[in-house]
Amino acid sequence: MPTETRPSTAVVAPARGFGGEAPHVPGDKSISHRAVIFSALADGVSTVTNVAPGEDVASSMRCVAALGATVERDGDRVRIHGGAWRAPAEPLDCGNSGTTMRLLMGAIAGRNVAATLDGDGSLRRRPMLRVAEPLAELGALIETTAGNAPVFIRGGRPLHGATVALKVRSAQLASALTLAATGAQGRTTITGAGSARDHTNKMLPHYGVDVRVEGDAIVIDGPQNFHAADFHVPGDPSAAAFWLAAAAIVPGSRIVVRDVNLNPTRLGFVYALQRMGAGVEISVESERPEPFGRIEVFARPLHAIAVEAPDVPAILDELPLLGIVAAYAAGTTTVRGARELRVKESDRIAVLATGLRALGGTIAEVDDGFDVTGPSSSLGAGSAALHGATVASGGDHRLAMGFAIAALGAAGPVTIEEADCCAISHPTFFSDLERLCRA
Ligand code: S3P
Repeated sequence: MPTETRPSTAVVAPARGFGGEAPHVPGDKSISHRAVIFSALADGVSTVTNVAPGEDVASSMRCVAALGATVERDGDRVRIHGGAWRAPAEPLDCGNSGTTMRLLMGAIAGRNVAATLDGDGSLRRRPMLRVAEPLAELGALIETTAGNAPVFIRGGRPLHGATVALKVRSAQLASALTLAATGAQGRTTITGAGSARDHTNKMLPHYGVDVRVEGDAIVIDGPQNFHAADFHVPGDPSAAAFWLAAAAIVPGSRIVVRDVNLNPTRLGFVYALQRMGAGVEISVESERPEPFGRIEVFARPLHAIAVEAPDVPAILDELPLLGIVAAYAAGTTTVRGARELRVKESDRIAVLATGLRALGGTIAEVDDGFDVTGPSSSLGAGSAALHGATVASGGDHRLAMGFAIAALGAAGPVTIEEADCCAISHPTFFSDLERLCRA
């Protein structure tokens, strides 16, 4: 359990036991961004409940307010009065959030409004041409700063429909194009999103927008109006994944998480744990607007698996965590086809490799993935695959939380630098972790 938390450093001690009923899992971050943006585009008042508590979704709320929506937040309930967007007076600050910047690029371009979008140092390093170029095919005038933020959307001319083939398989990109298409004149057909998370397509009809999925294509006939609607956000499987991982690696544990989004495009990590030999039970309790319900995981001896390119979209954000679990699984786990990890909030392959090595793990980096070798056979209670050390999170929330989970099965305490970045997606992560651990 955590023994000490300072503003930016956390020390996590090995756990002798872990599990029980997980505390309330934060609302799904991907779905929360969409609910906030769609509500802001709709005439009238929409209420979003169980909205994600982290800084990323707060960035989306701040930006849509600057674009003209009225946003009233009361805990995890947000009331949004949306409608016509106006050019913001100042650059929009997207903070650390790639989803905020990319989805808003499409939504703003489709509303014919001028705006500048900027973000923190990490977001300024992330590629934005992949969004600007396909949006230009719909007629958008967008300039980037050598391919990055700040991004300048010129506005001033309506968009037209087009057939656009995405060069990068990305949910953010497909969603940006879809949002632009809802404001464009005529039909837009988007291909190349593949099996990336499909929340936008699933949620738009709830806001009165007609979007069709035809094979690999997303088809939108524009322009279309958004209608105000109330939306309840299910729990985030990417937040739940840390508790599931801990239960898989701390001998004798069992965890139950409830009210989690069970959309299969997000469950790659749960399926991976199952393939590695962990005990996994999934129960769907409702199908609307997406499947959601309960996940239970219990510790069993783990073995290595191979993750290939087709598996990547459904496990994308959990791949660093998989690397950590792999350090506790017998054999060599391989991940390929995941080059995108290099352009997330940090270079997640490099930060994972440096941290795991500091903890005594065995990891080989390749351009599009990594190999992690665990113990030669699964360890019993009392023996540890990793030892204590100080690790750099790279200011990346998923790595900071991942190394905290690594610590639970290690031989000594792990000090995580810049651990306060967990506030991006899960502000109560360390206190929740403490509740679930037995020292
Ligand atoms: C997201 C899509 C994913 C994911 C990100 C959130 C989204 O990125 O990594 O954290 O909400 O659409 P891609 O755009 O690479 O699919």
